[in-house]
Amino acid sequence: MKKGMIFDLDGVIVDTAFYHFKAWQYLAKQIDIDFDAKFNETLKGISRVESLEKILLYGDKADDFSMAEKNILMNRKNDYYVQLLSKLTEKNILPGVLPFIKQAKKNNIPCAIASASKNATMILEQLNIKDYFVVIVDPHSLSKGKPDPEIFLTAANLIDVSPSEAIGFEDSQAGIEALNRANIFSVGISAQDNLVGADLRVDCFEKINFEQLLSM
Ligand code: G1P
Ligand code: MG
Repeated sequence: MKKGMIFDLDGVIVDTAFYHFKAWQYLAKQIDIDFDAKFNETLKGISRVESLEKILLYGDKADDFSMAEKNILMNRKNDYYVQLLSKLTEKNILPGVLPFIKQAKKNNIPCAIASASKNATMILEQLNIKDYFVVIVDPHSLSKGKPDPEIFLTAANLIDVSPSEAIGFEDSQAGIEALNRANIFSVGISAQDNLVGADLRVDCFEKINFEQLLSM
């Protein structure tokens, strides 16, 4: 039986993955780089600085900016993103998430958040769901981001379950790879058939049978 659950945030709990896409696209346009939803898939799950570096590489501008200039670009993206977040309400929580985390709480299954985002705590507070999570891994405390397993192994350790007793939920390819490398059962949340290697793939939490998942 599984004993703990670890959730990515953007694109798993709340539909903010789309806002990240819009904000990165807005920033990229200012430096004459254009990218589409397909390229955006490669930005999911990775840190702010890694996302920027990927965009610069994609636009053939990897060596055009100093670290100070990159910081200005990242702040600009984040300011725009945070502005988009101001409109966020409980309606942005993805289908089936709320009943699912309520059921986990009722069954004494500890839940953790393992997100690369430095905005995670603020979003959970804004949505009034922070108390469902006993742990929010601080991305500042990590030495490597997804697809490295560190964030998920840290989360499992903090909720006191072994990797084989944990279930992880992800919407990004980098996250699925991190879960698999951590030896944690990986559930891919995606309406498309794009998450390679997920142990289970579902459109949304409404499609998951809680009891059945625990016995996987
Ligand atoms: C960061 C990145 C973003 C990525 C997200 C993953 O968020 O900016 O590209 O998709 O993590 O959840 P941030 O710390 O900027 O909120
Ligand atoms: Mg995500």
